[in-house]
Amino acid sequence: MEEQQAVKRLEALKQEIAHHDRMYYVLDHPEISDYQYDQLMRELLAIEEAYPHLLTADSPSQRVGGEALKQFESYTHRNPLLSLMNAYGTDDLREFHQRICNDLGREEIEYVVEYKIDGLSIALYYENGVLQNGVTRGDGVTGEDVTANVRTVKNIPLRLQNNLPVLEARGEVYLPKASFAKINEQREKNGESLFANCRNAAAGSIRQLDPKVTAQRDLRAIIYTMMHVEGAEPATHSQCVALLKEAGFTTMEPFISSDIDAICEYCVYWGEHRHDLPFDIDGMVIKINSLADQETLGNRAKNPRWAIAYKFPPEQGITRIEEIVVQVGRTGAVTPVANLEPVFLAGSTISRATLHNEDFIREKDIRIGDYVVIQKAGEVIPEVVSVVQEKRAGTEQEYVFPQVCPVCGAPLIRVEGEAAWRCSDSMTCPAQVREGIIHFASRDAMNIEGLGPAVITQLLDAGLIQNAADLYYLQKEQLLTLERMGEKSADNLLNSLAASKQRTLAQVIYALGIRLVGQNVAKVLARRFPTMEALQNAGYDDLVVIDEVGPKIAESITAYFGQQRHIAFLQKLAEAGVSLGSAEQEQKQQNTAFTGKTVVLTGTLPTLDRREASALIEQAGGKVSGSVSKKTDFVLAGESAGSKLTKAQDLGITIIDEETFLQMLKD
Ligand code: IVH
Repeated sequence: MEEQQAVKRLEALKQEIAHHDRMYYVLDHPEISDYQYDQLMRELLAIEEAYPHLLTADSPSQRVGGEALKQFESYTHRNPLLSLMNAYGTDDLREFHQRICNDLGREEIEYVVEYKIDGLSIALYYENGVLQNGVTRGDGVTGEDVTANVRTVKNIPLRLQNNLPVLEARGEVYLPKASFAKINEQREKNGESLFANCRNAAAGSIRQLDPKVTAQRDLRAIIYTMMHVEGAEPATHSQCVALLKEAGFTTMEPFISSDIDAICEYCVYWGEHRHDLPFDIDGMVIKINSLADQETLGNRAKNPRWAIAYKFPPEQGITRIEEIVVQVGRTGAVTPVANLEPVFLAGSTISRATLHNEDFIREKDIRIGDYVVIQKAGEVIPEVVSVVQEKRAGTEQEYVFPQVCPVCGAPLIRVEGEAAWRCSDSMTCPAQVREGIIHFASRDAMNIEGLGPAVITQLLDAGLIQNAADLYYLQKEQLLTLERMGEKSADNLLNSLAASKQRTLAQVIYALGIRLVGQNVAKVLARRFPTMEALQNAGYDDLVVIDEVGPKIAESITAYFGQQRHIAFLQKLAEAGVSLGSAEQEQKQQNTAFTGKTVVLTGTLPTLDRREASALIEQAGGKVSGSVSKKTDFVLAGESAGSKLTKAQDLGITIIDEETFLQMLKD
């Protein structure tokens, strides 16, 4: 095929495939068979292979997921993502309505009511009809640029159908309940940890560094609003939704009403029927329909005055406690758990509930055999709310809290002022060791993919590891002796172990599992101490003066480093080549032209790709941002830079090219 012909055919194919994607994923009304669809896709791929330079970001071939990233870039939202005030019942809704009537000085107010989808907020930026960036909410001001993953979400158009020149669309990315069940089934088979709910699974999927993984997760998006549009002048929220629908998004059918009674009724109805929907919702959102009224009312610091979220009451059920068992966690905390007669609640079967600690059981007088009210409050593990006293038969048994660890037999101890009993043998208790390694390998810690609880148990049982540092000394032959461990999984595991040696100091500190040292404190510590050694040598007094570190945390940290076996453990990590920070690195970061500066990349650079340039900036102590604002210090611009460059010029921001950039790094 001649190139000219290829260009034409490619464009036709793109449009045709986009049309069928929409018919299938948005309108649920496929017009062709899977086979016919595959044929179109194949033809498109063949042309793109023959003419790679014709490949564009809006090609449906991008939906399968491109190259894996090392990290996400941060992206400053053009308009901050606000959150909603909550209403906990219809009284709150009526109060909201009354306030609106007062503020607007009239009684007749038209509202739109929508589902509050329990997924992840996403902002989608389109320019000239083409998807440019997909960004997570983050802290509302700055999010993560997850564009490559967003492209894999089949009902998000890569190109708008109504060619609006500029559009920022906002919505929720979620995982349909059916797909969630399938993923967990598969994870269980692979011995991987299960996702607690649809939202966690969606969050885990959209924050995957490898878009190919995301592409397999069947994420969907429902778009509920637009922040910025050029080429249309909607006057109401429902007109915005209609425009979004026209543009090719999946939207919600708005329920429009000026009758607060009808609105309350509608909310209560969906509270009772939410399990009939194919996705999770955690409430309803009530918005004023007129955009002019919205503007009159305006926003508070964090929430708009013109909308409110009606939160569903937590769902409760009654069932019987069959037995009470205890679990030993990473820090040795012994948590009592009730095994329940299975009961269907909030869309799933519940057979366990947490009892928190000994005092909780005593205060609520919970006995084995009791009927109890259990509640799922949005979160994962249901809890016991109360005992149904009327159902007591007299045969219920009081629970005697164990005095020794059920796993290793060591005595349990309870520190004054703490609710939990802990196993006293933190050194060798198998439960603590296992949980500690699971934490070490987890995503926010060392992020060792392929090392889930099942594999860790296998490695421990086979005596191949005693602690997490031993992981770095595993040989492929040893791995191959494990059941269900093939060549490929062994290679993958060794690769992710090798990659984990480059985790940041903050991530390693967090991975150690020091009590009270979460991700945040770990980051603060890594900023304060350039190396693990420096942290290790810090005394209580050095630590307690740090803002985020109080006496308890300082004590916990010094206690950790006071143990010889922890020092030996760190030594072993260092010998394996795990990066534990370096003074030189810190020095370097503090003295460059980019220290503390914000840099925006745009266009194609002659030699560096985006990832390399970002890494260099960050190594030099700078921050990479996705959008230009007054706070930007430099714009690093390459060939065919677009609107970011123009904006930078308007704002008078220093613009540098690659050559200057590299020179500045050297200086
Ligand atoms: S409107 C100004 N509509 O709920 C706030 N939000 O606290 C605009 N959400 O994380 C939000 N469904 O992503 C709106 N139909 C809906 C929604 C919805 C879910 C999420 C939103 C945000 C949170 C608001």
